[in-house]
Amino acid sequence: MDIINKYRIADYEIDKMFLERWSIKSFLDKSLSKEKISKLFEAARWAPSSSNRQPWRFIYSSAGVNREKMNSILNDGNRVWASKAPLLIFVYAMVETKQGKNNYTAHFDTGAAWMSLAIQARIMGLYTHAMGGIDREKALNLIKNNKHKFESICAIAVGYIDDSSLKDNPEEIPNQRISVNNFSEQL
Ligand SMILES: Cc1cc2nc3c(=O)[nH]c(=O)nc-3n(C[C@H](O)[C@H](O)[C@H](O)COP(=O)(O)O)c2cc1C
Repeated sequence: MDIINKYRIADYEIDKMFLERWSIKSFLDKSLSKEKISKLFEAARWAPSSSNRQPWRFIYSSAGVNREKMNSILNDGNRVWASKAPLLIFVYAMVETKQGKNNYTAHFDTGAAWMSLAIQARIMGLYTHAMGGIDREKALNLIKNNKHKFESICAIAVGYIDDSSLKDNPEEIPNQRISVNNFSEQL
């Protein structure tokens, strides 16, 4: 992908899917089949978690009143572009174990599940964009059972890229990273 090759250069050779996972804002108005949506969650399903607790929860909608309700929970800045994505997902972590204790790895585990979903999306030619800019309390209210055991984390927009709107759009330039040495060290 030209735009990725132009802006993202890995110091060490890795699979291109890691560079091509990119938080786009320009989504095509093209719906996602139920089968495709299920595949995304299937990838999340197999993520590792502490004691195999699988504490992640996803609530999603594509269209209709439920989708409008979910759009309204996004911050204004995110709603502008994310409303156009054909799939919107809210992400939660179950922070209480069955024994009533604090599951302190719940967010970490849920992060692994989201990344699996994001990579599976890329494999399927789709893009994801996570958003912490949501009303977390309103998002939590979408949980029907045992709400008190959950924390809402973020939303994820999913869909196909609209290549035509990428041109000359400074908001759509794939960003860089600090180097490996800045966040890992050998003891
Ligand atoms: C938990 C989380 C919350 C984020 N919140 C927002 C957000 O509210 N709005 C937004 O435009 N991008 C948001 N992002 C996207 C990040 O800005 C983006 O992932 C980061 O700049 C790296 O760029 P890349 O994903 O294109 O590689 C969020 C990403 C994550 C993982």
